[in-house]
Amino acid sequence: MKALVLSGGAGTRLRPITHTSAKQLVPVANKAVLFYGLESIAEAGITDVGMIVGDTAAEIEEAVGDGSQFGLKVTYIPQERPLGLAHAVLIARDYLGDDDFVMYLGDNFIVGGITGLVDEFRSNRPDAQILLTRVADPRAFGVAELDPSGQVIGLEEKPDRPKSDLALVGVYLFTPLIHDAVRAIEPSWRGELEITHAIQHLIDSRADVRCTVITGYWKDTGNVGDMLEVNRMVLEGMDRRIDGEVDAASETIGRVVVEEGARIIDSRIVGPAVIGSGTVIRNSYVGPFTSIAENCRVTDSEVEFSIVLRDSSIQGVGRIESSLIGRHVEVTPAPSVPSAHRLVLGDHSKVQITS
Ligand code: G1P
Repeated sequence: MKALVLSGGAGTRLRPITHTSAKQLVPVANKAVLFYGLESIAEAGITDVGMIVGDTAAEIEEAVGDGSQFGLKVTYIPQERPLGLAHAVLIARDYLGDDDFVMYLGDNFIVGGITGLVDEFRSNRPDAQILLTRVADPRAFGVAELDPSGQVIGLEEKPDRPKSDLALVGVYLFTPLIHDAVRAIEPSWRGELEITHAIQHLIDSRADVRCTVITGYWKDTGNVGDMLEVNRMVLEGMDRRIDGEVDAASETIGRVVVEEGARIIDSRIVGPAVIGSGTVIRNSYVGPFTSIAENCRVTDSEVEFSIVLRDSSIQGVGRIESSLIGRHVEVTPAPSVPSAHRLVLGDHSKVQITS
C-alpha cells in the first residue's frame, strides 16, 4: 500500500498566516500540520509516499526532504495548476501503479492518526473507504448523504443546501478502481476534477464504498478559534520536557516543553505550553495552551491561549490572549496614549483596536 499526500494549492483561508507560506506548514504545537499527517502514515506501516506539490513546492521540499526523517520514501509529483484532487490521482497513475493507496490532504489534521482505519481497510478491502465528520458549516466541504442503514448514497461538493452535516474528511482509502473513476468525470463548476465526483461515480456503478464517522478532526477554514482549539488539544497530549535553559528565578509548571536552545529568564511558564528553540522569554508569563515557535522574544509581557509563529517579538505590552501571531511580527507598546493609530499592516490583516 502507498500514500498520496496532497501538498499543493495556495493557502487563502487563514490569511495572513498562509498568505506567504504553504497552508500545510501551518504549525500546531510548533509542528507543521503536514508533519502530523506524514507521521501517522508512517505509523500505519506505509513507507512509499507520493507527494503532489504546486506553487509552494520549494518550501514543502525543504521541509520534508526525502522523507527519511519520518521513516518514509517520498517521491515528488508536480502538479502544474491546482486542477483538483481527482486530477492529482490522474497524474499519480504511474507512481501508484496497481497498489491500493491512502490519499491524505496535507492540510487536514486527524487526532489519533489513521492506523486503525488503514488496518480495517486492509482486512475488509472495500473498493473505497471515506471518512466523515460532523461540522458546523458543511457548505465549505464535500457533504455525504447516508441511508438509514448508514450506507453512503450521495456526495456533493460544497453544496449551498447540504443534505447533512457530515463532511468529507481529507483522508480517503482507494483500490485501483478509482483510476477508472477519475478518468470518467468532467470538471466541476470551479474548474476542478473533484474526488467527490469520482467517488460518486463509484457509488453509481455499485462499487463497495464504505464510510466511517470520526471525531477529532480539524482543517484550516479561516477560523482562528478552531486553530487555537486544535493547538490546545495537541498540547494537552504532550509530555513535559525541558531541554533548554531555565534560570533559577523562573518557574515551569506542568506539561511544559522548552526546546533545546530556548531560554527562560525571570519568567513563569504554566503548561501545557511549548517554547521553541532559540526563543527567549524574559520577565514574562506564558500561560496554558500556548505555542511559541522558534527564535521569538517575549519580554515584559503575558501571553495565554495563543500561537506565536517564528521570529516574532512581543515586548512590554501587558497581556495577550486568544491570539494568532504570524512570523516576523513585532508587537510593541505605543509610546503614550495615542491620539491617532499608526499602522503598517499587510494585505488581509485583521486588527482590533481599543479607541
Ligand atoms: C477538499 C474536498 C472536500 C473535502 C475537503 C476536506 O476541499 O474537495 O470534499 O471535504 O477537501 O479538507 P478543498 O480543500 O479542495 O476545498
